[in-house]
Amino acid sequence: RFLELNSGESLIRALLKLPQVCIRNPTSVSQKLESMINGGKNTLQIISDFDYTLSKITGSNGERLSTTHGVFDDNAKRIDPELGKKFEDLRAKFYPIEFSPNLSISEKIPFMEEWWRTSHEYILQSKFTKQQVRQFVDTSRKQNRIQLRDGVPAFLLALECHRIPLVLFSAGIGNVIEIYLDMELHKVPKNIHLISNMMRFDQQDVVASFSEPLIHTFCKNSSVIRDEHDFFHHIANRTHVLLLGDSLGDSHMDVGVERSETTIKIGFYNGNTQDTNLLEHYLEGYDIVLLQDDTMTVPQMILDEIV
Ligand code: TMP
Repeated sequence: RFLELNSGESLIRALLKLPQVCIRNPTSVSQKLESMINGGKNTLQIISDFDYTLSKITGSNGERLSTTHGVFDDNAKRIDPELGKKFEDLRAKFYPIEFSPNLSISEKIPFMEEWWRTSHEYILQSKFTKQQVRQFVDTSRKQNRIQLRDGVPAFLLALECHRIPLVLFSAGIGNVIEIYLDMELHKVPKNIHLISNMMRFDQQDVVASFSEPLIHTFCKNSSVIRDEHDFFHHIANRTHVLLLGDSLGDSHMDVGVERSETTIKIGFYNGNTQDTNLLEHYLEGYDIVLLQDDTMTVPQMILDEIV
């Protein structure tokens, strides 16, 4: 008999032909794809990280691009070199800890809390205004210090057109994401629900506080989504989840989902491909791992089959 492939099997074959795609268990992922495709767009929700997942990590000259916090580093350097140095010192100290293969997550957490709290304290002490923050984002964007991964605008547009909810779960700064998307897409699409650290401004539009609980890389879990139950309840009929992240912590971002039937986790692996130990962890945490991939090709291929 002719070998008849179902849509999940056809899609997995197409994905496995791409050089950047690594899948530990193709049979299981093929079954999940089949059930998502059969479920269609009305059962789908997307949960995605922002920094280095929707945004790019590396520029065209090989330079490391900015995170949403990095927008402050970039601009502080220009207007207040002393503050710029403080942000730089923080990153030099804590970034290697975030990605250290020698420390467990629980050992890293106190360092991450210190990094985020100190960084936010510097921002508060600087008394930046809403207008300044907008200018900072504009400058970083014009200098290409923050860029979307290739294909992200089309992906976001498709989600909006098909009314598929997109939960942006970010340990970055939510206001920067909103301003950036507004500039890049000329609006923040209504289907986007942002869970992030938000700067609060006083009546003079001066930054006065950050939202609590603080969200850092390793606490994207139930402890920080306690105010989100109504939202997740509202989309509880969307039992199929496509999750996109770049760090191992991101692989648990589906913690708020009320009823999940099928979840496919896609991990952008931005690390060294020779580091087989770290890569192994990604292959355990994510159904599909994408190596050094600057594009949205794979999520878009999956979305195209579902809608
Ligand atoms: P996320 O990608 O999980 O949302 O994490 C945000 C990233 O922001 C994380 O990799 C660390 C980085 N970061 C900075 O670049 N500068 C900072 O001041 C802070 C607090 C975080």
